[in-house]
Amino acid sequence: MRSKLVVGNWKMNGSREANALLLTGILAGLANAKAAAAVCVPAPYLYQCHDLLQGSELAWGAQDVSCQPSGAYTGEVCASMLQDFGCRYVIVGHSERRAYHGESSELVAKKTKALIEAGMTPIVCVGETLEQREAGQTMEVVNEQLGAVLDKIGPDALASIVLAYEPVWAIGTGKTATPEMAQQVHAGLREKLRACNAASAEKVLVLYGGSMKPDNAADLMAQPDIDGGLIGGAALKAADFLAIIHAAK
Ligand code: G3P
Repeated sequence: MRSKLVVGNWKMNGSREANALLLTGILAGLANAKAAAAVCVPAPYLYQCHDLLQGSELAWGAQDVSCQPSGAYTGEVCASMLQDFGCRYVIVGHSERRAYHGESSELVAKKTKALIEAGMTPIVCVGETLEQREAGQTMEVVNEQLGAVLDKIGPDALASIVLAYEPVWAIGTGKTATPEMAQQVHAGLREKLRACNAASAEKVLVLYGGSMKPDNAADLMAQPDIDGGLIGGAALKAADFLAIIHAAK
């Protein structure tokens, strides 16, 4: 039986003042949660998380990383820097990075490997656009995105990743995949993980992301292959984020 994990992706939101309120609000309501919880924040606020969350039940992390170890890469942040600030999780391959920054599956795979080597847990995002879903290409798309990562990290490192299925058409739109639709893709992804390493595949957490809210979280996370959520908008309000965390059984 896999444990559940709920991760807030703050995207490009926050201020020191707002973060302090949000984080203390979350910490105040975490008691008796059955799911583990984390927040992935903009890089400038990692120090604040390190400061406020150390020793707490709430883990923290970043939303991207460079695949390079150090050097002349203006604007980039490498894995060892994220580790320096206590990051446990780092999102890679979010559809917003793929769409607005042209990130390829190959680059996402390199970032995943850099994070594993630095001892952090990559949250690898995959997901299809509406056009791809309507063309019946969902599994082909997510399998290509996942396949590039599996080829790069190899079967021995499989247990070191978290996977997140985020259908692009459900992100920030209020349109959620039904629990059955999401489960179908999650089960397909689990099959692909099994083909890489059957034993590790049963341990890999596969999160759902895309308009997960307090009112749909319990049904989504009750599906056998949905092991938690990657939450955008609803992670910016302590009450909503906590309701999702507590919806995990
Ligand atoms: O990474 C989380 C995400 O893309 C989902 O965002 O706002 O639809 O929950 P949202």
